[in-house]
Parts: sequence; structure tokens; C-alpha cells
Amino acid sequence: MSLDQYKAPPRPELFDFHGVPMVNFFTDNWDNIQNFQARPDDILIAAYPKAGTTWASYILDLLYFGKDQADNLPTSPRLIKTHFPVQFVPKSFWEQNCRMVYVARNAKDNMVSYFHFDRMNLAQPEPGDWSNFFQRFMEGKVVFGSWYDHVNDWWKKKESYPKIHYMFYEDMIEDTGREIDKLCSFLGLSPSAEDKMKVTGGVQFDNMKKDDMANYSTNPVMDFKISPFMRKGKVGDWKNHFTVAQSEQFDEDYKKKMKDATLQFRTKV
Ligand code: A3P
Repeated sequence: MSLDQYKAPPRPELFDFHGVPMVNFFTDNWDNIQNFQARPDDILIAAYPKAGTTWASYILDLLYFGKDQADNLPTSPRLIKTHFPVQFVPKSFWEQNCRMVYVARNAKDNMVSYFHFDRMNLAQPEPGDWSNFFQRFMEGKVVFGSWYDHVNDWWKKKESYPKIHYMFYEDMIEDTGREIDKLCSFLGLSPSAEDKMKVTGGVQFDNMKKDDMANYSTNPVMDFKISPFMRKGKVGDWKNHFTVAQSEQFDEDYKKKMKDATLQFRTKV
């Protein structure tokens, strides 16, 4: 059979899973996931989908393992990535007092990035057209649920669990080196100036885009003819997607949904 004849399986449907819209792929193994045994030095990297998860984990990867040859990698710390809302995190992570790094991205750019991701990732539900996706994102009817709940619930969790380092995508764009410094002080790392320069350079968008691990080029469920994974890496791309009316509707809705939030996005986008 040639690739042209290959018919991709149908897109998965969203369903309600403990109050959060999910797809089977992330819930099939639920008991195993919940029984996962974390180790005290595990580091959990968490983010809403398309907020910069890959970027943050690439930074941590280079900080911990950058100098090592692939066949000589230390086995700890384990860097574990998740898009789970905070209430889904397996309890052993809390019991073991693991460090956690959370990345948040402004909602409008996050929405745009998610739209393109759902277009190209055949394992995600059909995104529909832009105006349809726009509506569903605001209603939280996308995989991993509401952006508003996700960013706010992780933010609130810091009050009772201080070992969460909360980062912003826009800050990383503004000054990657400064954000790496803050991350290092949270992790208790003090890289040499030379190592830090290597990390800061290595995690720039254009460098990561060339790396098959970061751009997911070997992932069979992604159709890169539709959109690359490392797509634009910019702040403010929403302006190329939102109509003026959509932006106004979004801002109104945002004010309502975020009115009790203590979380503020500092960077104006
Ligand atoms: P865009 O689609 O806006 O380009 P995640 O890893 O959570 O899926 O997030 C993916 C988003 O982060 C994509 O956004 C991707 O381009 C962006 N990204 C990844 N690495 C980046 C980097 N080094 N600099 C800027 N943006 C980056």
C-alpha cells in the first residue's frame, strides 16, 4: 500500500473525564498513571498544551544532561512532562515532595497554537474551522479542558505547595537567560557561564527547530504538511488570527472568567 492510499484512523472524540474533556489516549492507562511511583528527585514539567512544554523540558534537559554523551546519561533526575490539570497529578509526586516546573502562556497565543496543533495532529479531535475552535477553546471544550482552570489551579496550588516554579512563556521570550537563571536557582543548579551560554543558545527557537526530538519530525501522527510542530515561537501571533470582534468577545469573556484570579499575566500582548 502506498502512503497515498493510507487512510488515517478517525479523529478521537472528546469525553468528560472527572469533569475534564479528555481523549482515550490519555486516560486508557489511568490506574497505572495514578499509581505511578515518583522519586523524590523527579522533576515534573507541567503546562497546558501548547504553552511551551517542549521548550521548558528542553531547557531542563540541557541543564542536567547537556554535557553528557547519549550512551552515558545519568538516570536521575527523571524529567517527566505532563499536561494534566493539577488535580490529576498522581499523588506520589506530592508525597515525595517533588519539584515541579509549570509554564503558562497568554490565552490568545495559546489558543492559536492549539488550533494549529489540532489541525496537524491526527490523534487530536478535529479542530473545525478557526471560529469554531475559538468558541470551543473559550468554553474549555478541548483536550485537557479549560485553559482558565488549568493556569489558575496550578497558580493557586503554589500557596500550599511551594515547590512549584511558575514560568511564563512571554518572559522566556523576553529574556531567556534571566528565566534560566531563575529556574536554576529554584533547582539549586549553578552552571558555569560557559554552560549557561550553551543552554541559552541551544534553546533558541531556530536551534530547537533543527532538532528532530524537539520538532517531533519522527512522530507518525503529525502531518507536517499541514503545520510544523515548532511553528512560529512568537508572542502576539493571535493578531494574525483573531478578528476585531473576536478579540473583543474574548476580552469580555476573559474578564469574567479571570475576575477572581490572583494570577496576572504581566506582559502585555
Ligand atoms: P507556536 O505554535 O505558537 O509556534 P508545547 O511544547 O507546549 O506543545 O508548545 C509548543 C509551542 O511552543 C509552539 O508555539 C512552539 O513553536 C513554541 N516553542 C517551542 N520551543 C520554543 C522556543 N525555543 N522558543 C519559542 N517558542 C517555542
